[in-house]
Order: sequence, then structure tokens, then C-alpha cells
Amino acid sequence: MVKITDRVKKLEFSILDVVIAAKKLEKEGKEIIYLNIGDPIQYDFDTPQHIKNAMIDAIQEGFNVYSDPRGELELREAISEKEKKINNIDISPEDIIVTAGVSEALSFLLAAVIHPGDEVLIPGPAYPPYISMTEFFDGKPIMYRTIEDMGWNPDLEDIQKKISDKTKVLIVITPNNPTGLIYKEKVLKEISDLAGEHDILVISDEIYDQITFDKKHISTAAISGDVPVIGVNGFSKAYLQPGWRLGYLYSHDPENKLGDLLENLVKEARIRISTNSPAQKAAIAALRGPQDHIKEMNKKLKERRDYAIKRVNEIEGINATKPEGAFYMFPRVELGERWDNDLEFVLDLLKKTGVLIVHGSGFDPEYGSGHFRMVFLPQVEILEKAFQKIEEFMT
Ligand SMILES: Cc1ncc(COP(=O)(O)O)c(C=O)c1O
Repeated sequence: MVKITDRVKKLEFSILDVVIAAKKLEKEGKEIIYLNIGDPIQYDFDTPQHIKNAMIDAIQEGFNVYSDPRGELELREAISEKEKKINNIDISPEDIIVTAGVSEALSFLLAAVIHPGDEVLIPGPAYPPYISMTEFFDGKPIMYRTIEDMGWNPDLEDIQKKISDKTKVLIVITPNNPTGLIYKEKVLKEISDLAGEHDILVISDEIYDQITFDKKHISTAAISGDVPVIGVNGFSKAYLQPGWRLGYLYSHDPENKLGDLLENLVKEARIRISTNSPAQKAAIAALRGPQDHIKEMNKKLKERRDYAIKRVNEIEGINATKPEGAFYMFPRVELGERWDNDLEFVLDLLKKTGVLIVHGSGFDPEYGSGHFRMVFLPQVEILEKAFQKIEEFMT
């Protein structure tokens, strides 16, 4: 018998875990409305044609080789230009590593900096892999409070209180998954100053940087001054290439405080050889080609966000804060006597109506429980049908 490690046994991913129950019901003939996963391609969004063509051309032209472990220089140059233009940060191509999505960037980073027992400060609630990956690398996730009544803004006092001599990393996710909050400049400055004071590495996940509705995203590295920030970003959302698995990390470290971190991350990149080479050519086309699809996507999403927020707040017992970016809502639900917890609520809703959402405790048992996350990616007709079902179910 193979003995499986505890590290792997305890792995969870709530967003995909609830799908198992949905697939079972679908097999039995029930119609399911999937509102659980942040993949625009599963709805009415598609990878722009010029990006698809670049991928096909790369294959036809024979760029099917292993490529530079750090990512092709031309792509790193294009990323550097994009980060300057969109996020107002100066990053040299030498300070960028192309990865198989933000997901791989995170595993490189945590593998490099977390020693057993080290603590990682993560916003509560957060995209779940931050919690599971920290545990995977023998670290301890410490969730910092974000305040629902203040639009899910981080509680600075709580962060301060939770900093210990074991805190090695502080995570920022802006725009946020699951709450849709765009962190304000003042908050980002306070967070990075605090991190600087305590010698904590800031990792800023900005994968939704270009998916915003009412106000602009501000990059942590743009305002952190001499405090080092590692930014992570990718092509799964704004460039509609989720399945091609491409992202990047960059180091913003004007005073070289991070020592040889980058060289060590490059070593991790080398042992997995390279990312998908044709997808890198497509990513160059994505960054340097027409950007119209982003505007169109945001227009569609804003309409859907406005509809969804109005509709969800009309339902008795459910209350949601308006998301400013990304494509998620994180409403609170009154569980009352009817459900013991949010997972029970989600599974009951699924069984009775076929609407699949994700339980809030999967994003953090403390600050996420009593909530659920849903995407507002589908067309209004589909959202309408889902809300009709949720409303009937609630009453
Ligand atoms: C905040 C956040 N970070 C990272 C990811 C994963 O990104 P990638 O597809 O680049 O691995 C997601 C996906 O939903 C996300 O919401």
C-alpha cells in the first residue's frame, strides 16, 4: 500500500469540491445552473481571435520547443510594458518570471519563503488556495479580518494584532476574490508600511487588475515606496485564456531587500523546464494587440453586476455588498433554524433548485461563514432564472 502524506490528504478546494454533488444530480437528470467557478469561457465570453491566431501560428511555425524557464524575453518585455502602462510600475524584464498561471507563481513563492510553522497573513475571506497552499508548505494561515459593513475593507488593527515574529508573508488580493473590493490607495500604503516595518514580504495578487467597474485598480507596488512587493498576475481573466495556464510574478524591490529570492525562484522555474511555449507567443499578442475585448467584457459584466446586486438584495434573508471589480458577489445569508451552516444551505439549494454556488466558509471558516460566493458571469436571462429559483427556495 502507498502511504499518502497528511500534506496531500488534507487538501481542499471548496470551489471545485461542491461540483461533485452537482455532477451527481446532473447525471440523475437535474438541470444545474453553475454559478460556482470564475471561468469566463464557460459563459458567453471567448478568447479574442487575434490571441487564438497567435497560438495557432506559434504551433504551425514550430515554436513547440521547451522555452526559457523564466519565460521568453519578448513576453517579459511585453509584461513590463503592460505593468508600466496599466499599473504605473517600473519592472525590468529581468525581474519577471512567467509561470503556469498565478497558481504556479504562488507555489514557487510559498515554497521558497515558508519554513515549517511560519505564518502567512491572508485576508478573510480569500481565494481558497492561499489557505491550502500555505498549509501544503507547512506554514500556518492566519486570516486577517475584512469588514463587511465597510465594503469588506481590511481591518488594519486586526492585521497589526496578528503580526508575530513568525509572520513571513502578507497577502493582498485586489480586486478581491470573493468580495469584489478594490483596495484603496491609503489602505495599500498602510498595509505595505506595516509590512516594511516588520520585515514581512507582501504578495499582491492583481489578476483582476483590468476587470473594474466604478473605480480604478491601484497596484500595491505602485505605492509601496521602498517596501518590496512581489506581484502576481496572469492571462486567465482579462485576456480570457484560463485553460492555457499562463501567468507571471514580478519583483518590485528598489532597495534590493529581498536578497537572492528571485534567483531561487528561477531555480524552481528551471526544474519544471518551462511554461507552455505557444501560449507565451499568444500572450505577447494579447498584451501588444487590440485591447477592445477588455472594455466590452467590463461593459457586459457591469450590467450583470448591477442586475445581480439589485436582484439578490430583493430576496428576503440575503444581503450583499456591491462588488467594485472581478466577477463575484459574496452575500450574507440568514441561516436561522433552517440550516446549521452555509455548506448545508448551499447543498440544500443545489438539491432543490439546481443552482450551484459556493459556501462562504470554504473561503474562510471564520470571516466567510454564513455567506456564499456566486459569479455574475452569465447572461442576465440565466441570472434571472437563478434568482427566481433562489427566491422561491428562500420563501
Ligand atoms: C485571486 C485569484 N488568484 C489566482 C487565481 C488563479 O489564477 P490562474 O488561472 O492564473 O492560476 C484565481 C482564479 O480564480 C483568483 O481568483
